[in-house]
Amino acid sequence: MRADSSLTNWTFSKTEPIRSSPRWAPDIHRVCCCNPFCVGGIIMAFQVYRNKNSRGRLTLALGWAIIGAGMHPHLKLAPAIGLTPGAELIAVLSRDQGRADAFAETHGAKAGYSKMDDLLADSRIDAVFVASPNSAHVGHTVQAAKAGKHVLSEKPMATSVDDALAMVQTCKANGVKLGLGFELRFHPAHLLAKDLVSLGKLGRIRLLQGHWGRGERGEPEHLPRSGLRGWWEDPEAMGGGSVIMGLGVHVFDLVRFVMGQEITEVTAMTDTQPLEHIASMSLRLDDGTIANVSCGRMLPDTLNNFTVYGTDGRFTGTATVWEARMGDVEVVSETVNQTESWDYDYLANFVAELTDFQAALKEDREPAATGIDGLRSTEVNSAVIQSAKTGRAVKIEHRAVK
Ligand SMILES: NC(=O)c1ccc[n+]([C@@H]2O[C@H](COP(=O)([O-])OP(=O)(O)OC[C@H]3O[C@@H](n4cnc5c(N)ncnc54)[C@H](OP(=O)(O)O)[C@@H]3O)[C@@H](O)[C@H]2O)c1
Repeated sequence: MRADSSLTNWTFSKTEPIRSSPRWAPDIHRVCCCNPFCVGGIIMAFQVYRNKNSRGRLTLALGWAIIGAGMHPHLKLAPAIGLTPGAELIAVLSRDQGRADAFAETHGAKAGYSKMDDLLADSRIDAVFVASPNSAHVGHTVQAAKAGKHVLSEKPMATSVDDALAMVQTCKANGVKLGLGFELRFHPAHLLAKDLVSLGKLGRIRLLQGHWGRGERGEPEHLPRSGLRGWWEDPEAMGGGSVIMGLGVHVFDLVRFVMGQEITEVTAMTDTQPLEHIASMSLRLDDGTIANVSCGRMLPDTLNNFTVYGTDGRFTGTATVWEARMGDVEVVSETVNQTESWDYDYLANFVAELTDFQAALKEDREPAATGIDGLRSTEVNSAVIQSAKTGRAVKIEHRAVK
């Protein structure tokens, strides 16, 4: 992966470049580098707001708990909470008290818990970031919502459409926010793609292509995960899909996000069943536009591109389809011609995701990726897995939320 680029921003614009919308992707460096003794720093440090929780207490920061003490919380979520203005990591949940305590100590959390009920009884916690194994998301979310905690759930939201629906309905019934961890929505490249599409700068969109792969050279076979990570090899815990649930789901959501449309029909082909290493999908959107999505492992030198082809031009994000904020963008069209590059920033998309969720609580609005987005992406996952099994196209019937 390239971490830097020789491309210069706005190298050959024919017209004013389109800046990606800042609405969901605040520049965290601009926020964080504020001198704490300047007026803005003092205001930010002492900004007191009433959290929208059942207790309505006043706090200086939003109290987070991470449900799960695995690799994703360790490498990304806890450090990102540490970098997010107005966020405080209060607690973590592990099935084992020793692991919970060790995680809490490593990341400066106030407490480690091994029982969900004990964690939920901690009044310092306003929101939970659910990052447990896929099949556990529903139980953790339902419990947290019933305890009046807001929920940001990792993808895949759930391992079945019924579970995803239960998550949405329980959060709604208990008056808590539900957001989804689709960090690709916060890469400025993808915000730019969304703006170009909605402003009609690429003309009528004819085709989208998105790919998320990973791998290292010299890795001829999948090395199964074991121990605490063994659940990744268990079809039930995973929800019947492997790279589809791990990587493809991000790209399905990206297609929906950029196009502002639902996916109505899918066909899929995978290398193996039930836990595939390579998956290739065709998606049809509301207006008939087609998207090709592929994902897989054992793909060293993978490009991780996202391309939108329209009748008047093309958008390409190179290496933007990744957890870290990185990569390049090229736009060629009748009216907009520009390039842009991002230096590698491992946590920027996650910090933006947390910042947006906190703003959603403060402003009492929906987060950038909602529970409904999670439900729709779960419908796509489920249809894709069914199509790969049967070899047939599957139409998606969207579930209504009561
Ligand atoms: N948004 C993204 O880009 C992104 C990236 C990576 C992962 N994720 C998502 O984040 C979630 C966690 O991923 P991870 O990489 O952190 O997983 P992980 O490293 O495998 O950790 C999961 C933890 O869950 C516990 N666990 C293991 N087996 C379990 C079981 N059968 N039942 C209940 N708990 C079990 C273990 O901790 P204890 O035994 O200590 O409880 C384990 O450390 C997944 O849903 C994944 O899809 C999202």
